[in-house]
Parts: sequence; structure tokens; C-alpha cells
Amino acid sequence: MWRAALVPAAAMPRVKGPLRRPLEGADEWPILNRLLFGDPDLGGHHQVPLPTSVPVDWASVFGRSGPVTLEIGFNRGRFLRALARLQPERDHVGVEIRRRYAWLVAHEMGRDDGPENVRLVWGDAKLVSPAIAPPGGFADVYINFPDPWWKKKHTKRRLVNDEFASALTDLLAPGGSLWIKSDVAAIAEEIEAAFAAEPRLYGPTPFSAEDLPPSFREARCLEMGLPIYRFRFTRGEARRVSPVAQAPTGDAG
Ligand SMILES: C[S@@+](CC[C@H](N)C(=O)[O-])C[C@H]1O[C@@H](n2cnc3c(N)ncnc32)[C@H](O)[C@@H]1O
Repeated sequence: MWRAALVPAAAMPRVKGPLRRPLEGADEWPILNRLLFGDPDLGGHHQVPLPTSVPVDWASVFGRSGPVTLEIGFNRGRFLRALARLQPERDHVGVEIRRRYAWLVAHEMGRDDGPENVRLVWGDAKLVSPAIAPPGGFADVYINFPDPWWKKKHTKRRLVNDEFASALTDLLAPGGSLWIKSDVAAIAEEIEAAFAAEPRLYGPTPFSAEDLPPSFREARCLEMGLPIYRFRFTRGEARRVSPVAQAPTGDAG
């Protein structure tokens, strides 16, 4: 059983800095907005990929063919860049709706030299994800701590619903998993329900903090001892596991 959310998601710390302009001369790498939308200055809410740009040919973007993963809502890029370093044999794509974070990470990647196996999209995952890879194009998909959108009038902005669960499943390769974390019990329940209703997935199976690098929000939750709900749904033969509500940990487990 999920425990009631006792603590609302803490406000994300503000990012300051001159992030309104694209990287000088670097609009092809690591941000893919020119490729997807025709202009690096177009992106974010309401921006739909050009029909000519999709599905993206990741082998040509990365200069090699192999497994590609997707992270939705990479924010400061902590998880995405750590994952890319842990899994150098794979390529990694992040989609972030907020411009300042997309460009912050792009600037940092330019300054810190990568990693090379990451590309970023400043866009709305709901508009972009269904089009940026052919069916089965991603080896794994990660969603770390989706915004809870507490107010009733904002509920429709929540990332995961049945329709999006189905679109993400389309993108997942057989055997690939959707890895999801949240610190909000009510949101975790909603996510579980949406993915559990998708017949091409089985799970949820729990995983632990050691299985994946921490995101920025996760590190904060661990420091603050907040509960973290983690689940994984895998695309494959229906082998429905009874729902596992991972006990809130607040520790490393
Ligand atoms: C609560 S923050 C969590 C950030 C990060 N994943 C972490 O765990 O630290 C949610 C992130 O998802 C992004 N986001 C929300 N809706 C999105 C959407 N439709 N497409 C892409 N990113 C989205 C937000 O801008 C924000 O960066």
C-alpha cells in the first residue's frame, strides 16, 4: 500500500545565469532543436517536431548504431550525464520542457566536454517522444520525479496518463524497461495505474537506489529522508507481477 504523501515536493532550487541564448556556434551539439524543429530557438511547450525530422536517425546523430535510451525531464542533467558515463556503450537522449535547464545542461556539457554520448532536446516530451524514434527505438526510458502539479486545474499537465503510457510503450524495445521514480505517493499511484493498464508491459518490479545514479531531486530526497517510490515496467510477454509498492526508504535502498 502506498503511504499518503506527507511532504509536498520541495521547490526546485532556482537556476540563475545567462541561459536565454543558445550556445555560440554549437547549435547542432548537444542540443537537437535545429534538427527537430528547424531552429535552435524553437522548442518547449507546443512545439511539434517537423515531419521531415522524424523519426530521428540516432545512428547518424551519434555516429554509431547501438542501444539508445531516453530520459524525460532531465532538469539539471545530473542523472543523464551520470548514466551516460556509466553506460558508455549506449547513447542517451534527454527531453526537457524548460528552456533554462535545457540550455544550462547544454552549456555545461560544452564546457565540461560532454559526455559525447548524450544529446538534448528542449521540448515537451508528450509532443516529442512519440515522434523521435521508430517503434521500439529506445532500449530504456527513465522518468525521475515528475512534477506533481498539485492544483486541480493543473492536473491535466501531469506527465503520465494512459495515453502517454501507451506512447512510451510504443517506443520501448522488447525487453526494455520504463524506470520511474517519485517521492509523491499519490503521483506514484497514478503512474503505477497508467503503466499497469498497458498490456504490453509487465511489472512493476522494484529496484533500488544502487541500480541507477541519483537524479538531483533524488539526492535531495535522500538527504532529507523523504520516501522514494521506484518502479520498473518491462516490455515483453505479459507476466503480471502483483503491484509492489516499494516501502518509502529515505535511505539508500
Ligand atoms: C520535479 S522535476 C525533476 C527533475 C529531475 N528529473 C530530477 O529528478 O531531479 C520535473 C522535471 O520534468 C520537466 N518536465 C515536466 N513536464 C515535462 C514535459 N512534458 N516534457 C519534458 N520535461 C518535462 C520539468 O521541467 C522538470 O525539469
